[in-house]
Amino acid sequence: MKKYKIAVIKGDGIGPEIIDEAIKVLDAVSINSDCEFVYTEYLMGGNAYEITGDPLPQETIEGCKNSDAVLFGAIGGDQWDSLPRDKRPESGLLRLRSALDLYANFRPVKVYDQLLDASTLKREVIEGVDLLVMRELTGGLYFGQPREKGEDKAFNTMVYTKDEIIRIAKMAFEAAAKRGQKVCSVDKANVLEVSQLWRETVEEVAKDYPEVSLSHMYVDNCAMQLVRDPKQFDVILTGNIFGVILSDEASMISGSIGLLPSASVGGLVGLYEPIHGSAPDITGQGIANPIATIASASMMLRFALGEAAAADKIDSAIDRVLKEGYRTKDISLYGAKEICSTTEIGSIIADYASK
Ligand code: IPM
Ligand code: MG
Repeated sequence: MKKYKIAVIKGDGIGPEIIDEAIKVLDAVSINSDCEFVYTEYLMGGNAYEITGDPLPQETIEGCKNSDAVLFGAIGGDQWDSLPRDKRPESGLLRLRSALDLYANFRPVKVYDQLLDASTLKREVIEGVDLLVMRELTGGLYFGQPREKGEDKAFNTMVYTKDEIIRIAKMAFEAAAKRGQKVCSVDKANVLEVSQLWRETVEEVAKDYPEVSLSHMYVDNCAMQLVRDPKQFDVILTGNIFGVILSDEASMISGSIGLLPSASVGGLVGLYEPIHGSAPDITGQGIANPIATIASASMMLRFALGEAAAADKIDSAIDRVLKEGYRTKDISLYGAKEICSTTEIGSIIADYASK
């Protein structure tokens, strides 16, 4: 029996609620998969700040480094908004991404057939969409130096080195080679120097992948194209700030931001998390959609642990509950047979995944 060490970071807001469901599903799938998960919880975010004074205690970094994978919920909340930047929950997450060298953030966007009418976009526009946003995660505007906040002036700088661009571009081409053989690199090269270097570098990397076609798009155009004709995209390769924006936009193609998982990789240990945030407005009501987190656990099985069969079971279980009309509130407008709470839908997915 294989034993995997999973570092679990529940975080703030709905984080604990959705992670509990993902663990329920992982345990259910382990029954018939000849593997066992050993979870150790670590603190990060606002809750970590309250208890330790630091949104990312050293113990969390060490614990994650000594695990096979990290499963993470969400962080943040209004009550910590006025803290200095380095004490804010978000800075904990950014520091962890850096500490684990998670420079590549895979954000797949797919449309569940059962939810074709749940999107605000027309069925014919989204039917068959299957794209991947490859977001650079440890550089760019989020991490640029210098940075400064004064009274009347504040600034951040968008910095990318050639090496940083090469490694994320390689990830995108490798991914595209296994998918639809297309990379669309998104930048703002008509205005920004950093984007000009990005574009030139991506062109160079592309030479090593003759089977993958490369196109370039300005980020403003991409924002428009994503809702006009999302089917044109296979892999969208982009930087940190453009990627965070475009992936939230792209989530509405699938009907709810509560559906989209992500994997952050690059270093020795990968981190798996839903793309959505901590949703303080619905915390504790039992209505959060755990599917994005459960699908992130499936990505963890597939990419970090090599347990593809177990991952398939989870993915099929999600498909099946949606097909049978079980819905959390965020996706309840269309085709719902039964509106479920967070724990109810988690239990049904767990039951199906255990079979
Ligand atoms: C995301 C989140 C984070 C980001 C926040 C919580 C710092 O929005 O991963 O999409 O901006 O990267
Ligand atoms: Mg986000």
